[in-house]
Amino acid sequence: KESQAEKFQRQHMDPDTSTVTASYCNEMMKRRNMTVGQCKPVNTFIHEPLPDVQVICFQGNVTCKNGKPNCHQSSSKMRITDCRLKKGSKYPKCDYQTQQLQKSIIVACECVQYETVDFDGSV
Ligand code: C5P
Repeated sequence: KESQAEKFQRQHMDPDTSTVTASYCNEMMKRRNMTVGQCKPVNTFIHEPLPDVQVICFQGNVTCKNGKPNCHQSSSKMRITDCRLKKGSKYPKCDYQTQQLQKSIIVACECVQYETVDFDGSV
């Protein structure tokens, strides 16, 4: 079974892409299995090396949106792509808006290896 840490990497990690095209989210949301059964409404991809994302677990501690205490905000801005389902897009045609941004990100961490398990947002 896919672990929470593996799921985080499938859904959010894309370190080897630096510039994205307009069709990036349509392709990646499909390739990473987030358009199965329904179109996932919002998803962020991170274009930074995995170790740079894992160390966020040792940076500023913040409360997660769900009230849990194990979220951490990156001290530096990260290269990310924000994917948002376009209004009017109907499953199984998942049509996304692709937006490349540089923002601080918030992730949830768990202490198996103290690794990132959830993407909580960008600020
Ligand atoms: O904020 P919400 O609880 O609706 O987020 C649900 C999921 O959407 C998160 O677990 C995360 O996978 C994804 N998300 C994201 N980037 C955001 C907001 C949410 O990837 N900025």
